[in-house]
Amino acid sequence: MSLVLDKEAQDLLFREARTANSFTSEPVTDEQVQAIYDLVKYAPTALNSQPLRIVLVRTPEARQRLVDTMGDGNKAKTLAAPLVAILAADHDFHDELPKTFPHAPGARDWFPEEAARIQTGRFNAALQVGYFILGVRAAGLAAGPMAGFDAERLNKEFFGDGRHSVLAVVNIGRPGENAWFNRNPRLEYAEVVTTV
Ligand SMILES: Cc1cc2nc3c(=O)[nH]c(=O)nc-3n(C[C@H](O)[C@H](O)[C@H](O)COP(=O)(O)O)c2cc1C
Repeated sequence: MSLVLDKEAQDLLFREARTANSFTSEPVTDEQVQAIYDLVKYAPTALNSQPLRIVLVRTPEARQRLVDTMGDGNKAKTLAAPLVAILAADHDFHDELPKTFPHAPGARDWFPEEAARIQTGRFNAALQVGYFILGVRAAGLAAGPMAGFDAERLNKEFFGDGRHSVLAVVNIGRPGENAWFNRNPRLEYAEVVTTV
């Protein structure tokens, strides 16, 4: 069997999908987020390491603590979105390798150096951030990813253990009024791809 995603589904994920900057008040439920996670968890990471960790910001108190760490241009939309997710890398992802990469029992010990471990964790969690955004779109919702925040403050505020670093904050919901900035040009194939 050979399947290809039909054009409508491609449009939903890519051509017609936009980065939302405002949202309706329609709530985003835990069940919707779980369905998104249960889809995107199958996307690949090195050593099946899955270093992404997600904090759903639900209480007004937590929302305000988050907004205080956001850049000025990101504050209002982060305050207003129906749901905000903090996406972080777990620097100690290797502790899960005996479970997630069981056919290599020594894999946990392949990361003795913290700096290399953090680099691997952040790289693979960043891949998972991309998968998560596409998962939000696949669920018929819109995502507004942001990296404009005070990272040190945000890490301290939500991950006091020092073992995580935030990669992105993502507003999630149904697009509201004037949700889109202008669509900017994409680099074309010939500008990006070389063949050797
Ligand atoms: C990792 C990441 C960080 C981003 N940070 C911000 C941000 O801090 N503030 C903002 O308004 N948009 C931010 N964006 C949105 C991008 O500018 C937007 O996705 C891109 O221009 C494409 O827009 P389009 O989907 O509407 O074509 C970010 C996007 C990504 C993926």
